[in-house]
Amino acid sequence: MKRLTLTRFMIEEQRRSGVLRPELRLLIETVARACKTISHAVGKGALGEVLGSLGSENVQGEVQKKLDVIANELLLEANEWGGHLAAMASEEMEAIHRIPNRYPKGEYLLLFDPIDGSSNIDVGLSVGTIFSVLKAPADASGRDIVEQDFMQPGTSQVAAGYAIYGPQTILVLTLGTGVYEFTLDREVGSWQMTDGPLQLPAGTCEFAVNTARHEQWSPAVRRYLDERLAGVNGPCGKDYNMRWTASMVADVHRILKRGGIFLYPADHRTAGKARLRLMYEANPMAFLIEQAGGAATNGVERILDVQPRGLHERVGVILGDRTEVETVTAYGSVSV
Ligand code: F6P
Ligand code: MN
Repeated sequence: MKRLTLTRFMIEEQRRSGVLRPELRLLIETVARACKTISHAVGKGALGEVLGSLGSENVQGEVQKKLDVIANELLLEANEWGGHLAAMASEEMEAIHRIPNRYPKGEYLLLFDPIDGSSNIDVGLSVGTIFSVLKAPADASGRDIVEQDFMQPGTSQVAAGYAIYGPQTILVLTLGTGVYEFTLDREVGSWQMTDGPLQLPAGTCEFAVNTARHEQWSPAVRRYLDERLAGVNGPCGKDYNMRWTASMVADVHRILKRGGIFLYPADHRTAGKARLRLMYEANPMAFLIEQAGGAATNGVERILDVQPRGLHERVGVILGDRTEVETVTAYGSVSV
């Protein structure tokens, strides 16, 4: 079967819409190439001596795994010299990373979570890379990029996506004109389109949430989950399934393909603050989910409308099937 490659898809998209600029195409190609290398490192596992922790902590206070740091370096190195970027930001770096002066600079800002779901690395389960692309503000040309230049709501994203390193290596991408899935042909080394435009299936009775946090949720979130756990005898009148991979990429991918809802609301453990990061986890996923016909909220407002105040700001996340997202938010405040 003849399939569309990622390169050809983007060239045709560029011709068709006229919106996709060659520099953005180069950026996506570069990220996709880095993801191939990360996939290779992840796939080696214990054989490549890439597993385990480094003994250091990132800015979030999380223990850094070797692969977190390797993947971060791979993304930085791949994207530094192409001339398409003004700066980068990552979950693994406290401050933004400006393009060194020896390289030409472009107009885009790239944000990423190099390895999402890292607790899964050492036990051979799916992890992924999440990325989001913004444009540097017009007044930034000719001066150094500062963190404030990244403080744009998710609606300003020009592209977003993730790679998932699981049974297959898959790239899911949106350029704001639908969501497309590409599977890595490992023998040839090329990304081949395998699905899209994706439409989030409605009406799937499946939720993804860390139920161990039940006692720490707001009454609204507890009510929503308790009703679903009541199954056929609950107000929904049907049995639900629960699935939790503890890797946002894997859980969101399942929801994009099969439907359902993902919740990581704020809980008491974090003094009312949530766990997931707005700029390189929630925003790119919200963009993808909306592009596939779903909804994404922090419980108060649409995630894509949240005005960021810091690079590593955290946000409550409820996303997926539009009807389910509306149901839980209608139950009252999801903050604690
Ligand atoms: O990046 C944070 C993350 O690893 C997500 O990928 C995942 O959804 C979540 O944290 C898992 O959280 P928990 O450890 O509470 O299951
Ligand atoms: Mn993550």
